[in-house]
Amino acid sequence: MTQIGWYGLGSMGLAMANNLQRHLAAKKALSLLYTNRTMSRGSPLQTLGGIPEPSFDKLVSRCGIIFTMVSNDTVLQSLISSAVDSGHSLKDKIFVDCSTVHPETVSSAVAQLKAKEASYVAAPVFGGNPIAVDGKLVFAIGGPRGATEVVKPLIQDVMGRKVIECGEDATKSSLLKIAGNIVTVNMMEAVGEAQVFAEKTGLGTGPMEELIGEAFGPVAGGYSKRLTTGAYAPPLDARPGFGVSLAIKDARHAMSMAEKQGVKLPALELARKNMEAAREYAGECLDSSSMYGTLRQQAGLPFWNEKSRQE
Ligand SMILES: NC(=O)c1ccc[n+]([C@@H]2O[C@H](COP(=O)([O-])OP(=O)(O)OC[C@H]3O[C@@H](n4cnc5c(N)ncnc54)[C@H](OP(=O)(O)O)[C@@H]3O)[C@@H](O)[C@H]2O)c1
Repeated sequence: MTQIGWYGLGSMGLAMANNLQRHLAAKKALSLLYTNRTMSRGSPLQTLGGIPEPSFDKLVSRCGIIFTMVSNDTVLQSLISSAVDSGHSLKDKIFVDCSTVHPETVSSAVAQLKAKEASYVAAPVFGGNPIAVDGKLVFAIGGPRGATEVVKPLIQDVMGRKVIECGEDATKSSLLKIAGNIVTVNMMEAVGEAQVFAEKTGLGTGPMEELIGEAFGPVAGGYSKRLTTGAYAPPLDARPGFGVSLAIKDARHAMSMAEKQGVKLPALELARKNMEAAREYAGECLDSSSMYGTLRQQAGLPFWNEKSRQE
């Protein structure tokens, strides 16, 4: 039996690790070893049978498969470097990263791990926290076939409803994820604009939300709910569903790649500016949909709505 480890218990990681641990328990497999910068976030996972291991290096030395789900490229790079520099053998270990990172970060991780006879599988995800809780994420998987075949049964119908195969080049998964987030961020901008329009014209956000959900699907409907429930600006002691800085990172990754290829992304550029303006005004504790607050201000409304936090 392979021991499986997990690093990263944020908005997405905790929900995903909980589902993986439930699966392992049902299969009577070894319980998930987990670690996180803030270990206390693992309490729900421990309740399900997960086993805390505060040291990432020790976790790596004890596991054959190591999942990571962290905020950005810098955090992932530091974890990979820590594993590579730890002095422990990494031979035949499989590292599976589910975070959204730049393809160049993936290339670097692949090379570092290959030099240690370990494999890197990129498995970024589509869907927010509620979808992660339901185990219905869409994964884009890429990496050496031998490794992806080992990992897929831990994903399909465990953490995800669909695994999109991106081949043996792990950077392709990362590229697909970044491309997908062009749609995500632009859709949030579009829903935000429509809801500000509905409020200012007297149409009202209720009928608008009903239409968005019915005509444009549950994803767009979910983005509308983030606005009307105030989740775009949650209380300061809450963790946003998809932190605004994470979405800005994704938009910047897309724009840097687009620029190299001579591609224009004008709508994404606008959405990024609106997210940055929101963060400038209201701070870090904002959801990616918080460009809505900026759009409200541009229309002469307060940044906050009746359901959001108020400062
Ligand atoms: N949220 C979404 O809807 C969504 C959807 C698809 C993909 N993604 C992507 O999935 C990844 C995770 O997203 P998330 O929403 O779960 O993020 P999150 O809630 O911000 O969690 C980030 C995780 O990274 C850890 N971390 C952050 N900075 C760190 C540092 N300096 N050193 C060590 N650990 C650090 C956090 O530890 P602590 O718990 O100690 O803070 C936490 O475990 C991101 O790449 C994001 O772009 C997110």
